[in-house]
Amino acid sequence: MTTALTQSVREFLEGPITRPALLRWRRQQFLTTQGAGAYFGLFDSFNAARAWLPKNPEFDQDALAAEYVTIRARKVFAYDYPVMLWLEHAFREGARSVLDIGGSVGVHYYAYRRYIEMPAALTWGIVEVPAMVSIGRKMAADQKASALNFTEDLQSAVTEGAADIWISAGAIHYLDDARPSRLLASCKTRPRHILLNKLPLYGGEDFITAQNVGEGSIVPLHVYNKRRFVRDIEALGYTLRDEWPVHERGLYLPGHPERSFSSFSGLYFQVDPK
Ligand SMILES: C[S@@+](CC[C@H](N)C(=O)[O-])C[C@H]1O[C@@H](n2cnc3c(N)ncnc32)[C@H](O)[C@@H]1O
Repeated sequence: MTTALTQSVREFLEGPITRPALLRWRRQQFLTTQGAGAYFGLFDSFNAARAWLPKNPEFDQDALAAEYVTIRARKVFAYDYPVMLWLEHAFREGARSVLDIGGSVGVHYYAYRRYIEMPAALTWGIVEVPAMVSIGRKMAADQKASALNFTEDLQSAVTEGAADIWISAGAIHYLDDARPSRLLASCKTRPRHILLNKLPLYGGEDFITAQNVGEGSIVPLHVYNKRRFVRDIEALGYTLRDEWPVHERGLYLPGHPERSFSSFSGLYFQVDPK
């Protein structure tokens, strides 16, 4: 969350005289451990971002799992409540299978099942990077969480799978080619419910930037125009039933105040009746 004071200091530093020094300092800091959480740069593609960034494992390293295993699998946050609400509605309507894109080690399954009732026959598939798949499988075996299964293959999970619900929280924007409208267009059996949380959506043009996500990992990501993002999904036969701001996430892009925004978004789509 950005305070009014931080906002005023940023506005001052973004002025024409201080901006070049600000950008030099931000660029330097971004590439160090002090830059964790920060965003920097505008790129034409994920490849261009990766060519500029120092070589790094991105999300595919064990160190990034620690917070998910110890905290996020056990705790829900304010932005999780709308997801739990709609998930419970979907389960009550008969949904029995979930595809969770970027679901880490199964954090949403573990955390949410403490609050909402899940069907006995539930299957909860997770698409993740190899490090998370391997830690997630071990954790699921230890916890006898037989509903969970893991894959690294997003395209097959989407094309061949037939999940009733798709969930993706704070994740699809980190994949080069996972715009939901594209995934939906390529899948044989479309989900009835789509729950997207912690998404960088705003009023301006789509762009690609980079984020230092900690532990030496710096990754490219998409930022989407909200109206087009929603319209593209609705054009495939869905209605946006709910949306909520995620105040715990915001994006400040040094040198580009017009591409900065103070909160991320959550969206819930339901398939239109035939
Ligand atoms: C910020 S974390 C969010 C995790 C979790 N959904 C949450 O909300 O706490 C982003 C997740 O996306 C996953 N991810 C990034 N690139 C991916 C890819 N190409 N395929 C599958 N998962 C990916 C990361 O490994 C990470 O677990």
